[in-house]
Amino acid sequence: MKPLTTIERFVLSQQPHYAKGDLTTLFYDIALSAKLIATQAKRAAFLGEQGYHDSTNVQGEQQRKLDVFADEVFVKVNDHTGRLCAMISEEQEGIIQIPPKYGRGHYFMVYDPLDGSSNIDTNVTIGTIFGIYRQDDPKPVVTEADCLRPGNQLVAAGYIIYGTSTIFVYSTGKGVHGFTLDPEVGEFFLTHENMRFPEVPAYYSLNYGAYRNWQPNVQKYADWLNTTDDIRLSQRYIGSFVGDFHRNLLYGGVYGYPAETKYPDGKIRVLYEAAPMAYLAEQAGGYASNGHGSILDICPHKLHQRTPLFIGNRTLVEKAEQFIDGK
Ligand code: AHG
Ligand code: MN
Ligand code: MN
Repeated sequence: MKPLTTIERFVLSQQPHYAKGDLTTLFYDIALSAKLIATQAKRAAFLGEQGYHDSTNVQGEQQRKLDVFADEVFVKVNDHTGRLCAMISEEQEGIIQIPPKYGRGHYFMVYDPLDGSSNIDTNVTIGTIFGIYRQDDPKPVVTEADCLRPGNQLVAAGYIIYGTSTIFVYSTGKGVHGFTLDPEVGEFFLTHENMRFPEVPAYYSLNYGAYRNWQPNVQKYADWLNTTDDIRLSQRYIGSFVGDFHRNLLYGGVYGYPAETKYPDGKIRVLYEAAPMAYLAEQAGGYASNGHGSILDICPHKLHQRTPLFIGNRTLVEKAEQFIDGK
């Protein structure tokens, strides 16, 4: 029998000296949230939990029932543990403050509770994204100024992918590691240690349905991906950032969501989508850019700020910068 390493044991063995066990228990709570979301996603059809909720989020998007469920799970599982001082969610307008009675911890968490919402009801891969920042001196009320930080200050980030299996992928700055859920036992076991983008990429992932709405330099980059003889790439696009990123991490590739007429600043949000995934990409030997420079250097000036995004194998992302910025 191969050694069975649980996520808790692995995080504990890797956590930085300042964490004193907090990070391990925080990961345990995120893993619990993921298990609840994975279970609900599987049951949604017969529970009547598919389809739209009767509410709209701050982005002006109509929320799905599972978006709302996943967001509630994150708040309920993580607000009373004493390990966080605040949370920021894609689904909530402002900062989620930790009620004073629960005590405040030294971390704040940014998260996209359910990524790839358009795929929820079609049995296609969806995900959750999170990032963790350290707040050395948490105030009674955490402000935007405390939270608007660049990705290069993240102390941890990860995603959970709900596909043919549920996999928890994370980094605390010591490589990227993946754990697969045994649904019978309810435990995540180490299955993908030290994930790295393969040197020779296999895929590119852009929504070519938006081609006519891209800027000419982005179109040229997309044409290059389509036609270059330098490298033979196949096109794959799920429309779930987590799913597209995970496949490209395993087989090599680039995911792009450029600015377009419908989304002049790009669609992907800096704080809880682009930055955590950029952190993971760099830890896996890759790179993430807005077309001009590193995503990790962007300090957002509002919570739900968007950005154009190219992420994956460094060579392919730098090629995007060459086309877009003439670099
Ligand atoms: P979310 O479901 O969290 O709003 O994110 C959706 C994002 C991302 O996951 C995906 O890659 C992209 O939207 C798909 O958008 P298009 O359908 O416009 O390609
Ligand atoms: Mn998303
Ligand atoms: Mn989402």
